[in-house]
Amino acid sequence: MTQESSPNHGQRDKYPAPSGRRRFVKGLVGASALSGVTTVGGLAVDATTDQGGIGGGTVSYVGIRNIAGPANRPMPIVPLEISDGALRGMWPSVSEVTAGGDTFRLARGELGGVTYSQQWFQYCGLEVAPGLEPDPERDGFLRSKTTYDWQSELPDGEKLRVEHFENYESWGNNIGSDGLGKPAVATWRSQGEDVKEIQVQVLRTPAVSKMVAGEDEYADLAGEIRDFLDAATAEDFIAWVNRCTHLCCNPGYKKTPGSAKFEAADKVYCNCHQSVYDPFSPAMATFASRPRPQE
Ligand code: FES
Repeated sequence: MTQESSPNHGQRDKYPAPSGRRRFVKGLVGASALSGVTTVGGLAVDATTDQGGIGGGTVSYVGIRNIAGPANRPMPIVPLEISDGALRGMWPSVSEVTAGGDTFRLARGELGGVTYSQQWFQYCGLEVAPGLEPDPERDGFLRSKTTYDWQSELPDGEKLRVEHFENYESWGNNIGSDGLGKPAVATWRSQGEDVKEIQVQVLRTPAVSKMVAGEDEYADLAGEIRDFLDAATAEDFIAWVNRCTHLCCNPGYKKTPGSAKFEAADKVYCNCHQSVYDPFSPAMATFASRPRPQE
């Protein structure tokens, strides 16, 4: 897979992998397709284990680009699909990998020409989240977590549905410009869990269709990004893990009125240390995903 450069391409994650003897492993993923993810059997896998855990290592991914502040890499996109009108995050197929005497499961497959794996989300402590165990049976629906005023109409835990976003082409909340898209915050693969909830930001925006088609201001968007978005978005919805890559706060799109001072009223703004991400500028990047605890 080609790695398109982002401003931080090649930078290591600010949380380095634990020290200790590392073992390089090649395995095979060829398990049955699960959860609606496009997969290719027999995909070669490079994975590492060390004394502190398993399944970490350098990984390429697609995220929403960091454009200002101390965050040093994009926030990873969560591929999604629509199932009976509800939004569901995709999860790769799972198979067993043997690594230097350890056998563990790994969720990893091809999606839109990109290798998509659970490793995309193994940072900021999420590597120990039960929701990132490769178990494909987990509930993958994006369930509302009240953050925006409009979400108070929904009970927490309710599935986010297409019909909740019907006014997305005109929606606004007096932060920045109206009509750019309607956001929500959701939990994913972690409903009802007190610890290590996986929080996801959802945005339905007309920009998604334009990005996929390479129209207007997206004419220069790389073909591999467009191909990935075509597979990882649906009906103008895009989603990403809502964990700042700086120090792990939860940023937000049009969530903080003061974001205008940082030219971020129409961006994703993290009010911990003023990092800004552009949800309309997806990019490929590389980081060192943290290993998960030994099973
Ligand atoms: S800018 Fe520091 S945690 Fe987001």
